Amino acid sequence: MCGGTGTRLWPLSRKSYPKQFARLLSARSLFQEAASRVQGDGFAAPLVVSAVDYRFIVTEQLVDTGIDPGAVLLEPEPRNTAPAVLAAATWLARTAGPEALMLITPSDHAVTDPDAFRARIRAGIPAARAGALVLFGITPTHAETGYGYLEPEGLAEAQGGAVPLRSFVEKPDADQARALLEGDRHLWNSGLFLFTAQTILEAFAAHAPDLCAPVTAAVDGVRHDLGFARLDPDPWQTVAGISLDYAVMERARNLSVLRLETPWSDLGNWDSVAQHSPRDGNGNALGGDAMALDCTGTLLRSETGGRQTLVGLGLKDIIAVAMPDGVLVTHRDRAQDVGQAVAALRRSG
Ligand code: GDD
Ligand code: MG
Repeated sequence: MCGGTGTRLWPLSRKSYPKQFARLLSARSLFQEAASRVQGDGFAAPLVVSAVDYRFIVTEQLVDTGIDPGAVLLEPEPRNTAPAVLAAATWLARTAGPEALMLITPSDHAVTDPDAFRARIRAGIPAARAGALVLFGITPTHAETGYGYLEPEGLAEAQGGAVPLRSFVEKPDADQARALLEGDRHLWNSGLFLFTAQTILEAFAAHAPDLCAPVTAAVDGVRHDLGFARLDPDPWQTVAGISLDYAVMERARNLSVLRLETPWSDLGNWDSVAQHSPRDGNGNALGGDAMALDCTGTLLRSETGGRQTLVGLGLKDIIAVAMPDGVLVTHRDRAQDVGQAVAALRRSG
């Protein structure tokens, strides 16, 4: 899945070139890293689902990484992750059969140990084959409101194979997130899912039946164009926008979870990017033409093609990101609110 817009990483991530395609941490984009993680080792060629606007970025980045996609499914307009997954499952059931195992992977994460990652995915296969919707949990470190929370039947047991899930709460409010963290019975949802095409199609039929007819019609009407599979825009127009988490995971009963147990991070905002970037002796993460003098804990990045040097002097925990057409300056504590600033910017035209 690589069709989201990622507004909290403005001004680097924007609608025309969202964060998953940006080279945030290394010479490869998050999308390239995500696609590379599922190469070989029993994985078939990836089925990429993206928005029509990103089609050339997708192919260029795959070619650069030496990855041949199985197919690139294009959404005429973004409708969030539930329709994307339903379209992919419908496609896969037809091309690979209903028993085909699907690993749904987002493309906005950092995973530093791909071998350990694949080993944990493999550990989920028996439960997925047995008809479960398998999720992968992360040990929570703070009362994050941007994630889903998973309550396994036994927290310790989830270290081995998959265990049944008692409940799934998507994006709790701040009070609820604090209570879930303090209760010490929950894991974060990593956003990775493993199931057979048939299991997820049945879950959509049971829990989000309104999506089924228009998404199936959009797959029926696929138009092949330059190696892309374009979903039919007419039925797609009537598809409701909703995430897989709200449409299916909060409602389904056949969920199982295992701990991912590998270093994982959702690079959802500048604070998490700062935490996962190389830092100098004073904890400053510097990128492009940026310099820190007497600073601690800052993230300073200037990517203006050499036109602007960014200098921080005597700053603590400040984020400053300069792009040719926009500059963000904020405190690390406010990194989660950058999406709101972008919404305000859009409203003001
Ligand atoms: N094809 C397609 N179409 N992809 C999309 C669309 C869409 O309309 N919308 C989002 N995506 C892609 C994003 O690019 C990203 O790679 C992935 O789907 C997940 O979407 P996000 O919008 O980033 O989800 P989230 O981070 O708010 O929440 C999900 O991930 C969290 C962990 O990072 C949920 O699954 C949470 O429960 C989870 O904790
Ligand atoms: Mg995300």
